[in-house]
Amino acid sequence: MQLLSLTYERFRNLSRVELVPGPKATVAVGENGQGKTNLLEGLYFLATLKPLRAAKLSELVAFGQTTARVTGRFLLSGAEREISVEVAAGSRHAFVDGKRASSLEAYFGGVSVVAFTPDDLQVVKGGPEGRRNFLDRAVFNRFPAFLTESREYGRALKSRNRLLKEGAPAAHLSAWDATLARVGARLWSRRRSLMGELGARAQTAFSRIGRTEDPARYLYLPSHLEEVDFAGATELQLQLALAAALDQRLQRDQERGFTSVGPHVDDLELSLGTHAARAFASQGQARALVLAWKVAEIENLHAHSGFLPLLLLDDVSSELDPERNQFLMGYLAESGAQVFLTTTDPALVQRAAGLGTVWYRVKAGTVERADP
Ligand SMILES: Nc1ncnc2c1ncn2[C@@H]1O[C@H](COP(=O)(O)OP(=O)(O)OP(=O)(O)O)[C@@H](O)[C@H]1O
Ligand SMILES: [Mg+2]
Repeated sequence: MQLLSLTYERFRNLSRVELVPGPKATVAVGENGQGKTNLLEGLYFLATLKPLRAAKLSELVAFGQTTARVTGRFLLSGAEREISVEVAAGSRHAFVDGKRASSLEAYFGGVSVVAFTPDDLQVVKGGPEGRRNFLDRAVFNRFPAFLTESREYGRALKSRNRLLKEGAPAAHLSAWDATLARVGARLWSRRRSLMGELGARAQTAFSRIGRTEDPARYLYLPSHLEEVDFAGATELQLQLALAAALDQRLQRDQERGFTSVGPHVDDLELSLGTHAARAFASQGQARALVLAWKVAEIENLHAHSGFLPLLLLDDVSSELDPERNQFLMGYLAESGAQVFLTTTDPALVQRAAGLGTVWYRVKAGTVERADP
Protein backbone atom coordinates (compact mmCIF):
# COMPACT_ATOMS: atom_id res chain seq x y z
CA MET A 1 0.00 0.00 0.00
CA GLN A 2 1.21 3.45 -0.81
CA LEU A 3 -0.28 6.86 -0.25
CA LEU A 4 0.26 8.96 -3.38
CA SER A 5 -1.37 12.24 -2.42
CA LEU A 6 -3.48 13.86 0.26
CA THR A 7 -5.87 16.80 0.23
CA TYR A 8 -7.34 18.61 3.23
CA GLU A 9 -10.29 20.96 2.88
CA ARG A 10 -11.48 23.02 5.87
CA PHE A 11 -9.99 20.47 8.23
CA ARG A 12 -9.15 22.25 11.51
CA ASN A 13 -6.72 25.07 10.64
CA LEU A 14 -5.85 23.54 7.23
CA SER A 15 -8.19 25.44 4.95
CA ARG A 16 -6.81 23.87 1.79
CA VAL A 17 -3.64 21.79 1.76
CA GLU A 18 -2.29 19.36 -0.80
CA LEU A 19 0.56 17.02 0.03
CA VAL A 20 2.57 14.62 -2.07
CA PRO A 21 4.25 12.34 0.44
CA GLY A 22 7.54 10.58 -0.10
CA PRO A 23 7.58 6.84 -0.81
CA LYS A 24 9.31 6.31 2.56
CA ALA A 25 9.47 9.19 5.01
CA THR A 26 7.59 12.48 5.01
CA VAL A 27 8.48 14.96 7.73
CA ALA A 28 6.40 17.98 8.72
CA VAL A 29 8.45 20.56 10.59
CA GLY A 30 7.00 23.58 12.36
CA GLU A 31 6.71 25.60 15.52
CA ASN A 32 4.07 24.84 18.15
CA GLY A 33 0.45 25.41 17.22
CA GLN A 34 0.97 25.61 13.43
CA GLY A 35 -0.98 22.51 12.32
CA LYS A 36 1.47 19.57 12.40
CA THR A 37 -0.76 17.33 14.51
CA ASN A 38 -3.76 18.42 12.44
CA LEU A 39 -2.01 16.98 9.36
CA LEU A 40 -1.58 13.60 11.04
CA GLU A 41 -5.02 13.73 12.52
CA GLY A 42 -6.55 14.22 9.07
CA LEU A 43 -4.66 11.26 7.67
CA TYR A 44 -5.57 9.12 10.68
CA PHE A 45 -9.22 10.05 10.31
CA LEU A 46 -9.14 9.23 6.60
CA ALA A 47 -7.62 5.81 7.23
CA THR A 48 -9.74 4.81 10.25
CA LEU A 49 -12.87 7.02 10.22
CA LYS A 50 -12.06 7.58 13.89
CA PRO A 51 -10.77 10.86 15.27
CA LEU A 52 -7.29 10.72 16.76
CA ARG A 53 -7.98 13.12 19.60
CA ALA A 54 -11.23 15.04 18.95
CA ALA A 55 -14.06 14.25 21.36
CA LYS A 56 -16.62 15.33 18.77
CA LEU A 57 -16.46 15.09 15.00
CA SER A 58 -17.57 18.70 14.66
CA GLU A 59 -14.26 19.79 16.23
CA LEU A 60 -12.54 18.64 13.04
CA VAL A 61 -14.33 21.26 10.94
CA ALA A 62 -12.48 24.57 10.57
CA PHE A 63 -13.88 27.36 12.73
CA GLY A 64 -16.74 29.13 10.93
CA GLN A 65 -17.18 26.36 8.33
CA THR A 66 -19.83 23.63 8.12
CA THR A 67 -18.02 20.76 6.41
CA ALA A 68 -14.52 19.31 6.31
CA ARG A 69 -13.04 16.79 3.94
CA VAL A 70 -9.88 14.73 3.64
CA THR A 71 -9.07 12.81 0.46
CA GLY A 72 -6.25 10.38 -0.27
CA ARG A 73 -5.11 8.63 -3.42
CA PHE A 74 -3.66 5.21 -2.67
CA LEU A 75 -1.87 2.57 -4.66
CA LEU A 76 -3.27 -0.77 -3.52
CA SER A 77 -2.13 -4.04 -5.10
CA GLY A 78 -1.18 -2.17 -8.26
CA ALA A 79 -4.45 -0.26 -8.64
CA GLU A 80 -5.07 3.39 -7.81
CA ARG A 81 -7.98 4.22 -5.55
CA GLU A 82 -9.27 7.43 -4.03
CA ILE A 83 -10.89 7.39 -0.64
CA SER A 84 -12.37 10.38 1.02
CA VAL A 85 -14.15 11.26 4.24
CA GLU A 86 -16.36 14.22 4.90
CA VAL A 87 -17.70 15.59 8.16
CA ALA A 88 -21.02 17.41 7.90
CA ALA A 89 -23.54 18.20 10.64
CA GLY A 90 -21.58 16.10 13.10
CA SER A 91 -21.64 12.93 10.97
CA ARG A 92 -19.03 11.33 8.76
CA HIS A 93 -19.54 10.17 5.22
CA ALA A 94 -17.11 7.89 3.44
CA PHE A 95 -16.47 7.80 -0.32
CA VAL A 96 -14.57 5.45 -2.60
CA ASP A 97 -13.62 6.84 -6.03
CA GLY A 98 -16.15 9.62 -5.60
CA LYS A 99 -19.12 7.41 -4.69
CA ARG A 100 -20.59 6.76 -1.26
CA ALA A 101 -18.79 3.71 0.19
CA SER A 102 -21.13 0.73 0.10
CA SER A 103 -19.45 -0.98 3.05
CA LEU A 104 -16.60 -0.49 5.46
CA GLU A 105 -14.79 -3.39 3.79
CA ALA A 106 -15.00 -1.57 0.46
CA TYR A 107 -13.78 1.59 2.13
CA PHE A 108 -10.84 0.22 4.09
CA GLY A 109 -9.82 -2.57 1.67
CA GLY A 110 -6.15 -2.78 2.66
CA VAL A 111 -5.66 0.72 4.07
CA SER A 112 -4.38 0.70 7.64
CA VAL A 113 -2.45 3.03 9.87
CA VAL A 114 -0.60 2.80 13.15
CA ALA A 115 -0.28 6.09 15.00
CA PHE A 116 2.15 6.87 17.73
CA THR A 117 1.45 10.00 19.75
CA PRO A 118 2.65 11.58 22.99
CA ASP A 119 -0.76 10.65 24.47
CA ASP A 120 0.04 6.98 23.83
CA LEU A 121 3.10 7.32 25.98
CA GLN A 122 0.86 8.20 28.92
CA VAL A 123 -1.36 5.12 28.76
CA VAL A 124 0.73 2.91 31.00
CA LYS A 125 0.45 5.29 33.94
CA GLY A 126 -3.02 6.61 33.13
CA GLY A 127 -6.52 5.29 33.79
CA PRO A 128 -8.17 2.17 32.31
CA GLU A 129 -10.16 4.11 29.71
CA GLY A 130 -6.98 5.21 27.96
CA ARG A 131 -5.71 1.63 27.90
CA ARG A 132 -9.02 0.33 26.54
CA ASN A 133 -8.89 2.87 23.71
CA PHE A 134 -5.28 2.00 23.08
CA LEU A 135 -6.16 -1.70 22.85
CA ASP A 136 -9.24 -1.05 20.73
CA ARG A 137 -7.32 0.97 18.15
CA ALA A 138 -5.21 -2.12 17.56
CA VAL A 139 -8.27 -4.40 17.49
CA PHE A 140 -9.98 -2.15 14.99
CA ASN A 141 -6.88 -2.05 12.77
CA ARG A 142 -6.80 -5.81 12.60
CA PHE A 143 -10.59 -6.36 12.40
CA PRO A 144 -12.30 -3.35 10.76
CA ALA A 145 -15.75 -4.83 11.52
CA PHE A 146 -14.97 -3.98 15.14
CA LEU A 147 -15.85 -0.34 14.34
CA THR A 148 -19.50 -1.21 13.67
CA GLU A 149 -19.63 -3.73 16.48
CA SER A 150 -18.29 -1.36 19.11
CA ARG A 151 -20.69 1.37 17.98
CA GLU A 152 -23.61 -1.03 18.33
CA TYR A 153 -22.42 -1.94 21.81
CA GLY A 154 -21.97 1.72 22.74
CA ARG A 155 -25.52 2.57 21.67
CA ALA A 156 -27.03 -0.30 23.66
CA LEU A 157 -24.95 0.63 26.69
CA LYS A 158 -26.05 4.24 26.53
CA SER A 159 -29.71 3.23 26.35
CA ARG A 160 -29.42 0.78 29.22
CA ASN A 161 -27.59 3.32 31.39
CA ARG A 162 -30.26 5.91 30.67
CA LEU A 163 -32.98 3.49 31.81
CA LEU A 164 -30.98 2.68 34.93
CA LYS A 165 -30.69 6.37 35.77
CA GLU A 166 -34.40 6.89 35.21
CA GLY A 167 -35.19 3.99 37.57
CA ALA A 168 -37.00 2.06 34.85
CA PRO A 169 -38.34 -1.39 35.80
CA ALA A 170 -36.12 -4.42 35.13
CA ALA A 171 -38.41 -5.65 32.34
CA HIS A 172 -37.53 -2.55 30.28
CA LEU A 173 -33.83 -3.30 30.57
CA SER A 174 -33.97 -6.84 29.31
CA ALA A 175 -34.11 -5.97 25.61
CA TRP A 176 -30.84 -4.08 26.01
CA ASP A 177 -29.34 -6.86 28.14
CA ALA A 178 -29.74 -9.29 25.25
CA THR A 179 -27.96 -6.93 22.81
CA LEU A 180 -25.23 -6.10 25.31
CA ALA A 181 -24.56 -9.78 26.01
CA ARG A 182 -24.42 -10.71 22.32
CA VAL A 183 -22.35 -7.77 21.08
CA GLY A 184 -20.29 -7.61 24.29
CA ALA A 185 -19.26 -11.24 23.76
CA ARG A 186 -18.21 -10.33 20.23
CA LEU A 187 -16.05 -7.46 21.50
CA TRP A 188 -14.49 -9.76 24.10
CA SER A 189 -13.74 -12.31 21.45
CA ARG A 190 -12.19 -9.69 19.12
CA ARG A 191 -9.98 -8.39 21.89
CA ARG A 192 -9.00 -11.93 22.84
CA SER A 193 -8.02 -12.74 19.24
CA LEU A 194 -5.93 -9.61 18.98
CA MET A 195 -4.18 -10.29 22.28
CA GLY A 196 -3.52 -13.86 21.13
CA GLU A 197 -1.67 -12.51 18.09
CA LEU A 198 -0.02 -9.49 19.66
CA GLY A 199 0.87 -10.42 23.25
CA ALA A 200 3.89 -12.58 22.46
CA ARG A 201 5.12 -10.29 19.67
CA ALA A 202 5.02 -7.29 21.99
CA GLN A 203 6.88 -9.21 24.67
CA THR A 204 9.64 -10.06 22.19
CA ALA A 205 9.81 -6.48 20.91
CA PHE A 206 10.10 -5.23 24.47
CA SER A 207 13.07 -7.48 25.14
CA ARG A 208 14.79 -5.79 22.16
CA ILE A 209 14.16 -2.21 23.31
CA GLY A 210 13.36 -2.38 26.99
CA ARG A 211 16.87 -2.58 28.45
CA THR A 212 15.10 -4.19 31.40
CA GLU A 213 15.83 -7.62 32.86
CA ASP A 214 12.23 -8.43 33.70
CA PRO A 215 10.05 -9.59 30.82
CA ALA A 216 7.04 -7.50 29.85
CA ARG A 217 3.60 -9.02 29.93
CA TYR A 218 0.48 -7.74 28.19
CA LEU A 219 -2.69 -9.30 29.52
CA TYR A 220 -6.37 -8.74 28.90
CA LEU A 221 -8.93 -10.34 31.21
CA PRO A 222 -12.54 -9.17 31.53
CA SER A 223 -13.54 -7.94 34.98
CA HIS A 224 -16.29 -9.72 36.94
CA LEU A 225 -16.21 -12.78 34.74
CA GLU A 226 -15.45 -15.46 37.27
CA GLU A 227 -17.76 -18.22 36.03
CA VAL A 228 -16.06 -18.96 32.73
CA ASP A 229 -12.52 -19.62 31.48
CA PHE A 230 -11.97 -16.59 29.23
CA ALA A 231 -9.12 -18.07 27.21
CA GLY A 232 -11.00 -21.25 26.30
CA ALA A 233 -14.66 -20.19 26.17
CA THR A 234 -16.66 -20.08 22.93
CA GLU A 235 -18.30 -16.77 21.99
CA LEU A 236 -21.67 -18.26 22.95
CA GLN A 237 -20.35 -19.19 26.40
CA LEU A 238 -19.07 -15.63 26.78
CA GLN A 239 -22.49 -14.31 25.79
CA LEU A 240 -24.24 -16.49 28.37
CA ALA A 241 -21.70 -15.53 31.03
CA LEU A 242 -22.18 -11.82 30.30
CA ALA A 243 -25.97 -12.18 30.37
CA ALA A 244 -25.67 -13.93 33.75
CA ALA A 245 -23.32 -11.26 35.12
CA LEU A 246 -25.67 -8.46 33.98
CA ASP A 247 -28.46 -10.26 35.76
CA GLN A 248 -26.46 -10.85 38.93
CA ARG A 249 -25.37 -7.23 39.18
CA LEU A 250 -28.75 -5.76 38.30
CA GLN A 251 -29.58 -4.49 41.77
CA ARG A 252 -26.18 -2.86 42.19
CA ASP A 253 -26.46 -1.31 38.71
CA GLN A 254 -29.92 0.05 39.52
CA GLU A 255 -28.62 1.64 42.70
CA ARG A 256 -25.63 3.20 40.96
CA GLY A 257 -27.32 4.09 37.71
CA PHE A 258 -24.80 2.49 35.36
CA THR A 259 -23.83 -0.89 33.91
CA SER A 260 -20.90 -2.30 35.87
CA VAL A 261 -19.89 -5.31 33.79
CA GLY A 262 -18.89 -5.73 30.14
CA PRO A 263 -16.07 -4.81 27.77
CA HIS A 264 -16.51 -1.11 28.61
CA VAL A 265 -15.15 -1.57 32.17
CA ASP A 266 -12.19 -3.87 31.46
CA ASP A 267 -8.52 -3.01 31.58
CA LEU A 268 -5.41 -3.97 29.67
CA GLU A 269 -2.88 -5.11 32.25
CA LEU A 270 0.76 -4.32 31.60
CA SER A 271 3.44 -5.71 33.85
CA LEU A 272 7.18 -6.07 34.21
CA GLY A 273 8.16 -9.33 35.84
CA THR A 274 5.61 -9.75 38.60
CA HIS A 275 4.92 -6.04 39.07
CA ALA A 276 2.14 -3.92 37.62
CA ALA A 277 3.71 -1.41 35.25
CA ARG A 278 1.14 1.23 36.18
CA ALA A 279 2.49 1.43 39.73
CA PHE A 280 6.12 0.40 39.32
CA ALA A 281 7.48 1.02 35.82
CA SER A 282 9.81 3.98 35.32
CA GLN A 283 8.86 6.57 32.68
CA GLY A 284 11.38 5.08 30.28
CA GLN A 285 10.11 1.55 30.85
CA ALA A 286 6.53 2.70 30.43
CA ARG A 287 7.41 4.28 27.09
CA ALA A 288 9.27 1.16 26.00
CA LEU A 289 6.14 -0.91 26.78
CA VAL A 290 4.13 1.30 24.43
CA LEU A 291 6.81 1.34 21.77
CA ALA A 292 7.04 -2.47 21.85
CA TRP A 293 3.27 -2.75 21.46
CA LYS A 294 3.31 -0.50 18.39
CA VAL A 295 6.19 -2.43 16.83
CA ALA A 296 4.24 -5.65 17.46
CA GLU A 297 1.18 -4.14 15.86
CA ILE A 298 3.06 -3.21 12.70
CA GLU A 299 4.62 -6.68 12.43
CA ASN A 300 1.31 -8.38 13.10
CA LEU A 301 -0.58 -6.39 10.45
CA HIS A 302 2.17 -7.13 7.98
CA ALA A 303 2.08 -10.85 8.81
CA HIS A 304 -1.69 -11.08 8.33
CA SER A 305 -2.39 -8.75 5.41
CA GLY A 306 0.92 -8.70 3.58
CA PHE A 307 0.81 -4.89 3.73
CA LEU A 308 2.75 -2.58 5.98
CA PRO A 309 0.48 0.02 7.60
CA LEU A 310 1.15 3.74 7.23
CA LEU A 311 2.99 4.91 10.31
CA LEU A 312 2.23 8.25 11.92
CA LEU A 313 4.51 9.65 14.59
CA ASP A 314 3.46 12.88 16.21
CA ASP A 315 6.41 14.59 17.80
CA VAL A 316 7.39 11.39 19.55
CA SER A 317 11.13 11.84 19.42
CA SER A 318 11.10 14.70 21.87
CA GLU A 319 9.44 12.39 24.42
CA LEU A 320 11.91 9.52 24.18
CA ASP A 321 15.38 9.26 25.66
CA PRO A 322 18.13 9.37 23.02
CA GLU A 323 18.73 5.59 22.94
CA ARG A 324 15.08 4.64 22.53
CA ASN A 325 14.70 7.37 19.96
CA GLN A 326 17.67 5.92 18.06
CA PHE A 327 16.05 2.48 18.21
CA LEU A 328 12.76 3.83 16.92
CA MET A 329 14.27 5.89 14.11
CA GLY A 330 16.44 2.94 13.05
CA TYR A 331 13.43 0.64 13.14
CA LEU A 332 11.40 3.02 10.97
CA ALA A 333 14.18 3.41 8.44
CA GLU A 334 14.52 -0.39 8.12
CA SER A 335 10.81 -1.26 8.24
CA GLY A 336 10.18 -0.22 4.66
CA ALA A 337 6.87 1.33 5.72
CA GLN A 338 5.67 4.72 4.55
CA VAL A 339 6.18 6.97 7.55
CA PHE A 340 4.83 10.41 8.49
CA LEU A 341 6.62 12.29 11.21
CA THR A 342 6.10 15.68 12.78
CA THR A 343 8.70 17.53 14.76
CA THR A 344 9.70 20.96 15.92
CA ASP A 345 13.36 19.93 15.55
CA PRO A 346 14.52 18.16 12.35
CA ALA A 347 17.68 16.89 14.05
CA LEU A 348 15.62 14.46 16.16
CA VAL A 349 14.29 12.55 13.19
CA GLN A 350 17.36 12.72 10.89
CA ARG A 351 18.02 9.01 11.26
CA ALA A 352 14.56 7.90 10.11
CA ALA A 353 14.74 10.32 7.24
CA GLY A 354 16.83 8.48 4.70
CA LEU A 355 17.23 9.13 0.99
CA GLY A 356 14.10 10.36 -0.74
CA THR A 357 12.58 11.91 2.38
CA VAL A 358 10.11 14.65 1.62
CA TRP A 359 10.21 17.64 3.97
CA TYR A 360 7.39 20.08 4.54
CA ARG A 361 7.28 23.23 6.60
CA VAL A 362 4.00 23.92 8.42
CA LYS A 363 3.11 27.48 9.27
CA ALA A 364 -0.28 28.79 10.39
CA GLY A 365 -2.17 26.05 8.58
CA THR A 366 -0.19 26.29 5.34
CA VAL A 367 2.21 23.62 4.18
CA GLU A 368 5.13 24.05 1.80
CA ARG A 369 7.90 21.83 0.51
CA ALA A 370 11.15 22.83 2.23
CA ASP A 371 14.33 20.91 2.86
CA PRO A 372 15.76 21.46 6.33
N1 LIG B 1 -11.53 23.33 14.19
C1 LIG B 1 -10.51 24.16 14.06
N2 LIG B 1 -10.56 25.21 13.20
C2 LIG B 1 -9.52 26.07 13.06
N3 LIG B 1 -8.38 25.97 13.74
C3 LIG B 1 -8.28 24.95 14.62
C4 LIG B 1 -9.31 24.00 14.82
N4 LIG B 1 -8.91 23.10 15.73
C5 LIG B 1 -7.66 23.46 16.10
N5 LIG B 1 -7.28 24.58 15.43
C6 LIG B 1 -6.01 25.32 15.54
O1 LIG B 1 -4.96 24.46 15.13
C7 LIG B 1 -3.78 24.87 15.81
C8 LIG B 1 -3.12 23.68 16.47
O2 LIG B 1 -2.72 22.81 15.51
P1 LIG B 1 -1.85 21.55 15.90
O3 LIG B 1 -2.39 20.89 17.12
O4 LIG B 1 -1.77 20.73 14.66
O5 LIG B 1 -0.47 22.21 16.23
P2 LIG B 1 0.98 21.57 16.21
O6 LIG B 1 1.73 22.15 15.07
O7 LIG B 1 0.89 20.11 16.28
O8 LIG B 1 1.58 22.17 17.56
P3 LIG B 1 2.46 21.48 18.72
O9 LIG B 1 3.87 21.51 18.23
O10 LIG B 1 2.25 22.41 19.87
O11 LIG B 1 1.92 20.11 18.96
C9 LIG B 1 -4.18 25.84 16.89
O12 LIG B 1 -3.82 27.11 16.47
C10 LIG B 1 -5.68 25.68 16.96
O13 LIG B 1 -6.33 26.85 17.35
MG1 LIG C 1 1.16 18.79 17.82
